[in-house]
Amino acid sequence: MLSCRSGFNLRVQNQVVDPDSSNDVRGGMLGQYVMNGGEGPNSYAQNSSYQGGVIDVAKPILEEEISRKLDIKHISSTFRIADFGCSTGRNSFAAMQIIVEAIKRKFETDGKVMQIPDFQVFFNDKVTNDFNTLFSSLPPQGLYHVTGVPGSFHSRLLPRASLHFGYSCFSLHWLSEVPKAVLDNTSPAWNSGKVHYFGARREVCEEYANQYAKDIKSFLDSRAEELVPGGLMALLVPAVPASWNPNSAYTVLTEVYHLGSCLVDMAKKGRFYEDKIDSFNYSVYFPVPQELKAIIEKSDNYIMERMEILDNPGKRSLTGPKERASYLRAVNEGMLVNHFGTEIMDELFDRYTKKLKASPLFSDPNSDKTILIFVLLQRKPIMFF
Ligand SMILES: C[S@@+](CC[C@H](N)C(=O)[O-])C[C@H]1O[C@@H](n2cnc3c(N)ncnc32)[C@H](O)[C@@H]1O
Repeated sequence: MLSCRSGFNLRVQNQVVDPDSSNDVRGGMLGQYVMNGGEGPNSYAQNSSYQGGVIDVAKPILEEEISRKLDIKHISSTFRIADFGCSTGRNSFAAMQIIVEAIKRKFETDGKVMQIPDFQVFFNDKVTNDFNTLFSSLPPQGLYHVTGVPGSFHSRLLPRASLHFGYSCFSLHWLSEVPKAVLDNTSPAWNSGKVHYFGARREVCEEYANQYAKDIKSFLDSRAEELVPGGLMALLVPAVPASWNPNSAYTVLTEVYHLGSCLVDMAKKGRFYEDKIDSFNYSVYFPVPQELKAIIEKSDNYIMERMEILDNPGKRSLTGPKERASYLRAVNEGMLVNHFGTEIMDELFDRYTKKLKASPLFSDPNSDKTILIFVLLQRKPIMFF
């Protein structure tokens, strides 16, 4: 059930559901996992300062680009903004406030105070996202009207040419599915004994990279239909540098690798059958900047206005292994529970915390070399021939 605090309009977007498709609005129910809901100690709401930190760095860039690039000539009475992959909202609310206030300022500085429109924000996430927590924690300012849009952002969610500003932060690394070949024991890309591509064979890495390219394309194609010509889209995409030394630094890939090695240790101890490892792989991918750039440049629908590498200050909010484990648990528990069951979660994350504590690398958050790529895209005008 979706709820909404008074003072905001809540409308769940109508969805077109194809009963035979596994890549539609029901994605969440069909095994696509969301962040831990609620406000409890393992919730995303309580453990997302890592992701939230980047908003401070992105703020001046968003403000500058809105002031420089947003075309307000043809905006009528409603300005529509969407956050794709909003989760339970704390970080999303901060970003939406920055965007709305920057747009209002743009109207003011252009001498169009009387034409400041109403703002409608579409909060999108998978259907199993905790929309109740999202809507019950909405900020009180009433800066914008609120609409929930449950469904996968890898397909169309909004009416054609209706969206003025798209936004997505820390969400596009989630794949629509684990590449099939890495779970197929007859394939050269079978990822036996591992749960991710970091440190795996070339064939495995290629399958993941191809899936990522396919997913980013479907995201961009869907948004191209939804954005108005000239509409802007700001993406904050977690990524890894083209080169980093795993002996002196780590990235989110190292963390996933260590969590995987804890699962392997537990299988060896008989906590579950070892073949459970072979039938599980993480459905996340972290590109290098050049890779993401090349995927975006293949799309004819956008002009890339800006691309910049950001260092995420949010990493310094994770002061030690325990905090890192909580952040990873809030993000990954849903996916892990679905495959391994709830019973092993406490032990798994205890083991993970101990593993991080054993390595001096993880005592310094500055050794985290994970990066964020900021991309600003402008929807090209639609050509009719
Ligand atoms: C790490 S959270 C980021 C949340 C928020 N943007 C932030 O910055 O804190 C990633 C979110 O993306 C959502 N997500 C992943 N794949 C998705 C998809 N295909 N469609 C919609 N949401 C998706 C997840 O459910 C999750 O809530």
